[in-house]
Amino acid sequence: MTNTYKITLLPGDGIGPEVITEAVKVLDAVAVAAKFNISYNEQHAGGAAIDAHNDPMPDSVIDACKASHAVLLGAVGGPKWDALTGAMRPESGLLKIRKELGAFANLRPVTVPNSLAENSPLRPEAVSGLDLFTVRELTGGIYFGQPVGEEGEGAEKRAWNTMIYSVGEIERVARVAFDWARKRRNKVTSVDKANVLHVSRLWRDTVKTLHENEYSDVELDHMYIDNAAMQMVINPRQFDVILTGNIFGDILSDASATLGGSLGLLPSASVGGPVGIFEPVHGSAPDIAGQDKANPLAMILSVAMMLDTLDQDIAAKAIRQGVEKVLDQGYRSGDLWREGNTLASTSELGQYVKEAALAAL
Ligand code: IPM
Ligand code: MG
Repeated sequence: MTNTYKITLLPGDGIGPEVITEAVKVLDAVAVAAKFNISYNEQHAGGAAIDAHNDPMPDSVIDACKASHAVLLGAVGGPKWDALTGAMRPESGLLKIRKELGAFANLRPVTVPNSLAENSPLRPEAVSGLDLFTVRELTGGIYFGQPVGEEGEGAEKRAWNTMIYSVGEIERVARVAFDWARKRRNKVTSVDKANVLHVSRLWRDTVKTLHENEYSDVELDHMYIDNAAMQMVINPRQFDVILTGNIFGDILSDASATLGGSLGLLPSASVGGPVGIFEPVHGSAPDIAGQDKANPLAMILSVAMMLDTLDQDIAAKAIRQGVEKVLDQGYRSGDLWREGNTLASTSELGQYVKEAALAAL
């Protein structure tokens, strides 16, 4: 096992830089204690890269990412760049780096520790102990399908995107979901819109065939996206692993994130290629950027997911225990604060998690 990891930092925009700062604080501390080294290479991405290089994802940044062991990304986008279109948008930069790194599977785990059940918009007993895991296809579907375009004028003006999946694309992400299910509660729910969309019928048939041939030991069911959204708020505990395409996964994972009270808690790993991207699910929150108010926990938990893939299990576990302890002690950023909690700033939360993680090592 290599002892020095090259990590590319893409803080990006809005609250991205401040949550990255806290994640690095925690990572540096556990690295010393767990005896591995990190070398950082910080690069612009999204709006910051547009300002610096007139390109939301310059080739030099892609090359830096490809030459590293992992990428930590904060957030991209904001009102400053909202008038830009197409490939010049900050979001296009994010899609480009996912595609360039071959990160076709996006893992979005949601757990609700008992200390957070009271924060949920659902009844505490509906979410307490919840543990679900979304595997979202990330480099295909309607986000990337061709043709895309527009033509005409006035009321006749039309625009279109294309939702397209090949058998190979479906199989490779389905394998990721089945493999995770085997390590968890052995159940996959594949979400599609096969009652309407041709592409979803191919999705469903492909998942069924793969299941029969290679994963018949795993329990599999299929759900339409509209029903899945409803089930997510009626009885989220029925889910173990959710397998779905790019846009359905985008929507459903935001809904799942809020079950624990805040989008500020959901980490993610975008994997499948040689270098993974580890990014919180939340956006750049421009309204609170630069005020030391943002919740850094999703970013810090994304570091734990990165350490899992680098086989630094002990350090990853210590970070998760650190986060849990800080929440148990009642510290909360504004997104989660309730009567009886202690309001904590971004930097305080980073510091507390760092101390608690070190104590757990
Ligand atoms: C996400 C985000 C991105 C997406 C945006 C910022 C392009 O919403 O990671 O869920 O749609 O994939
Ligand atoms: Mg999203």
